Amino acid sequence: MKLLVTGGAGYIGSIVTRLLIDAGHQVVVLDDLRTGHVEALAPEATFVQARIHDAAQVLTPDAGFDGVLHFAALIAAGESMTRPEIYWENNTVGSLALIDAVRAAGVPRFVFSSTAAVYGNPTELPITENAVKAPTNTYGATKLAVDMALTSEAIAHRLGAVSLRYFNVAGAYIRPERQLGERHDPESHLIPIALEVAAGRREKLQLFGDDYPTADGTCVRDYIHIEDLARAHLLALGAATPGEHRIYNLGNGNGFSNRQVVEVVREVTGHPLPVEMAPRREGDPAELVASSDRARTELGWVPAKPTLAEMVGDAWSFYRQHILPEKTE
Ligand SMILES: NC(=O)c1ccc[n+]([C@@H]2O[C@H](COP(=O)([O-])OP(=O)(O)OC[C@H]3O[C@@H](n4cnc5c(N)ncnc54)[C@H](O)[C@@H]3O)[C@@H](O)[C@H]2O)c1
Repeated sequence: MKLLVTGGAGYIGSIVTRLLIDAGHQVVVLDDLRTGHVEALAPEATFVQARIHDAAQVLTPDAGFDGVLHFAALIAAGESMTRPEIYWENNTVGSLALIDAVRAAGVPRFVFSSTAAVYGNPTELPITENAVKAPTNTYGATKLAVDMALTSEAIAHRLGAVSLRYFNVAGAYIRPERQLGERHDPESHLIPIALEVAAGRREKLQLFGDDYPTADGTCVRDYIHIEDLARAHLLALGAATPGEHRIYNLGNGNGFSNRQVVEVVREVTGHPLPVEMAPRREGDPAELVASSDRARTELGWVPAKPTLAEMVGDAWSFYRQHILPEKTE
């Protein structure tokens, strides 16, 4: 297939691009590089440096695209509460412009990076796709708005749309010839921050809250290996059906507490990893664990790397090979 990948210079988009190319697809990456990295671009893909708002310049009716995989977004939930306007403008207005371009060009398939943040504080565990959607931050709200737009688009204009709601994505793509991983700046995710401590780039790790109603008092999250997540996109592309908006949660269905993550990072890195307890953060639910039964049943998706040790091991390998040398230059 000929595919447009937005956000293909970012963490998840670059790894999905790699898998698409390895599967024989032809890929055009559209990214404005606001948070992406040139080094992450696949040499086999055509790169267009542009905003998703201007996607119509690439998605012309005669360009013959078979599908769009849409990763481009701003992703920091905390920042979305202090600068909501840039989240609405980028994540929602930009996505609506992209959907307009898809419609005008008659592109039949659309796979969208949605998020567990659309559910907010869960009213059921594990969280199914039918759970109440009540985002507690602007980031989640901007993504939910796009999910809703895709439902209407599928019904009214027969788009084959798939939203994948990721839980906590972790790990890296590690091959002898190529390594791709997470490089967010500033970093807001627990595992890469813990690795910064292990690498001596940060003094200690802050954990927010140890009085939650969980087994050890710290928050519980569902982690999914980036390679498992990336594979689900290829399955989603194959499942896209005109007139349907399919929605799938992607997680392991297993929760790990913040303290458990710290233990695994200690084991993998051999670093004592000093931890400082900090107060709870506003809007952080105690537990977020996915039911991914629908993805397993309908897409035949089975996570191959479900353990935290595999995720932390690959993330550490990427960190040592790529991030540490850059930061010590
Ligand atoms: N990382 C996670 O744990 C996680 C969890 C749930 C959902 N998601 C979703 O997955 C997607 C990818 O996340 P990521 O971690 O790879 O983020 P990332 O910041 O590494 O990548 C995002 C990419 O999109 C590009 N981009 C942003 N706005 C753009 C615009 N207007 N036009 C063109 N390019 C633009 C950036 O330059 C960057 O390369 C996002 O949509 C995010 O909401 C991520």
